Amino acid sequence: MTDKIAYSRHGDVAVLRIQNPPVNALGHAVREGLAANMDRAEADEGVRAVVIVGDGRAFIAGADITEFGKTPLEPHLPDLCNRIEASPLLVVASMHGVSLGGGLEVALSAHYRIAQPSSRVGLPEVHLGLIPGAGGTQRLPRVAGVENAIDIITTGRHIKAAEAAAMGLLDKVEEGDPQAVGIAYAEGLLAAGAARRPVSELPAPAPIDWDAAYAAVLKKGRGQLSPAQAVRAVQASVEMPFDEGLKAERKMFSDLMKTDQREGMIHAFFSERAVSNLPELKGVEPRDLKAIGVIGGGTMGAGIATAALLSGLRVTLLEMTDDAAEAARGRIAGNLSGALKRGKISQDKHDAMLNDALVVATDYDALKDADLVIEAVFEEMEVKKKVFTQLDAVCKPGAVLATNTSYLDVNEIAAITNRPEDVIGLHFFSPAHVMKLLEVVVADKTAKDVTATGFALGKMLGKVAVRAGVCDGFIGNRILSTYRTAADHMILDGASPFQIDKALTDFGFAMGPYAVADLAGLDIGWAMRKRLAPTRDPRERVGEYPDRLCEAGHFGQKTGKGFYIYETGQRGGTPNPEVMDLIEAERAEKGITPKEFTDEQIVRRYMAAMVNEAAKVVGEGIARRPLDVDMTLLFGYGFPRYRGGPLKWADLTGLPELLKDIERYAEEDDYFWAPAPLLKQLVAEGRSFDDLNKEAGK
Ligand code: 3HC
Ligand code: NAI
Repeated sequence: MTDKIAYSRHGDVAVLRIQNPPVNALGHAVREGLAANMDRAEADEGVRAVVIVGDGRAFIAGADITEFGKTPLEPHLPDLCNRIEASPLLVVASMHGVSLGGGLEVALSAHYRIAQPSSRVGLPEVHLGLIPGAGGTQRLPRVAGVENAIDIITTGRHIKAAEAAAMGLLDKVEEGDPQAVGIAYAEGLLAAGAARRPVSELPAPAPIDWDAAYAAVLKKGRGQLSPAQAVRAVQASVEMPFDEGLKAERKMFSDLMKTDQREGMIHAFFSERAVSNLPELKGVEPRDLKAIGVIGGGTMGAGIATAALLSGLRVTLLEMTDDAAEAARGRIAGNLSGALKRGKISQDKHDAMLNDALVVATDYDALKDADLVIEAVFEEMEVKKKVFTQLDAVCKPGAVLATNTSYLDVNEIAAITNRPEDVIGLHFFSPAHVMKLLEVVVADKTAKDVTATGFALGKMLGKVAVRAGVCDGFIGNRILSTYRTAADHMILDGASPFQIDKALTDFGFAMGPYAVADLAGLDIGWAMRKRLAPTRDPRERVGEYPDRLCEAGHFGQKTGKGFYIYETGQRGGTPNPEVMDLIEAERAEKGITPKEFTDEQIVRRYMAAMVNEAAKVVGEGIARRPLDVDMTLLFGYGFPRYRGGPLKWADLTGLPELLKDIERYAEEDDYFWAPAPLLKQLVAEGRSFDDLNKEAGK
């Protein structure tokens, strides 16, 4: 008998208490223990009901994800669920915290379900590239109807107890100790003579237009397989007898288990949690964080201030003039009212954030009590240096001084102060109150507790914080510059920006690189090209047609025209024909005969450039591990989660083949396509990027 389940007897009720911290995942020992203790309850004289309850912070968070990909051991979860449901005793699940995936499937196998008001339920398997595999797609439609089931399974969203009860998923919601509440509920059911109520015996729900539902989900998933498969599984619950439906679900689950998408998404799940696990910070306490300062209240400063206010920090925002300060306040007010409209904050909280927690100012003295100051002024070294000199003069000792620079040298900024150990890069992404990524850029002299404070801030703001070293563009923008350049080269050589955007959104990117450029503002790239021009290597190929767009005042979305034309009130843009004219003129001028690219060739080159630069970033120690690059691209650059990240994609695609491609491209342009030493080394040693993750203690 395992110690994962505590058995106790309370009159005619037996309690099976799951004890598998931290979240009671249904690992082998738990499954074995549940089956054995169901046997025990059934053999225990006088027991008429069983209550299943979870110990600690959750009922059950689902199957044990660490067992995926390994040989499954008996009892299998679907069999366990059937076994629980078939019990002659009355079975009650008493749920608290989360009941997710297999956890909800266990609860659906019970005959009655009671839950704490604060609890949440869900079937998030799609986020792991799977569908529920222990009867969830067959039982949920029988209690909650087909439409609710499709919504819950294809979105994987967590549902609050009240909503779950309203759709019939829960029988009762009651506050109290989950075990006591469960026993009382079971006793009440027994006293009322309630019968066992196996969900599998409930009538099959009414059908819907399955093909339409399938097509809608497929479109929304942008290439992800599992949500659309889930629709077919729910269809089976309506069209097949229960046992046949279970078999159909099992087959789809096992097929999905073998896909790259499942591997990619599980890599993302664990990597997302591993990024903040830094050996160098073990035992290092972050500095106190209650009040922060933000300098510059433009796009980024206002977004950063909003994120900080939303997480309960006090914010002092500094601008150059009173008018600019008020404009910044207006931007923050706009962001906060968006949060209010979406129900993220109450009116009272909104008012307190805007009127009490936010101060706008123009005098540096206002920052003297700040625990941390983030500078988000213009991207010019001289301006940044002036700001840091002033911060050095007014900030209290121990205050963390951070820059949100996109590309500039954080060491150079730190060196202008008398306290370089307090200086760090905190690189947010636009819009800063929405985007999940935060690059914590550690400079040569940054103190450990300052790095720890950067990560602590990331956690407070609900961000995925990734450690990066100093270089031009850190992890994300450096890699972005490279794959954008690969795309620019393809345009010079014959592809169109619109074909490239389409090929990449078909691959799964949220947006193509040229739609992204229009969104960010073409002036940013223009300024960068001008900054880099004096030191540019003559072998570098640079397209000049975007400069022509900028010279004509077309900066993308903000001016209504860039690669695309944006009509007011219209979502997205339509291709700007002038762009093709500019490109063709440049090709003619440079004597380039355009060639055709297939979508597959476009994706391959683009991804090869991304992987090659990412390998350099890891090889140089700018990113600690391959997974740090993967999470940067996932959370900051719209990389499809179901592919796990560029380096996970590279592992799944095959490093030797990728290296061969890169070497072939290098025959055309050996300057741009120089293979990364780390990639060559991994291929020579027959190892993968994931081996490096594992060696670093992923
Ligand atoms: N299996 C194994 N480990 C799990 C786990 C699971 N299902 N769920 C969470 N963990 C681990 C995490 O990896 C983490 O480990 P660490 O401390 O070593 O990093 C630890 O539990 C705590 O997790 P979090 O840091 O994520 O804690 P939070 O409180 O932020 O979140 C949670 C808790 C909401 C349960 C979140 O972890 C979560 O969403 N887990 C995944 C739930 C899920 O996807 N379940 C479905 C599994 S698939 C399935 O059931 C298939 C079935 O249909 C057959
Ligand atoms: P922005 O031009 O929208 O805002 C800059 C603001 O700083 C302006 O409101 C300006 O009045 C103010 N400012 C300038 N000098 C100042 C000074 N000395 N004191 C006080 N305020 C001053 O620029 P944006 O886009 O917000 O960028 C700011 C910084 O963030 C830059 O370093 C940029 O590279 C970086 N960044 C930008 C991202 C983006 O997508 N826009 C993403 C990530 C980082």
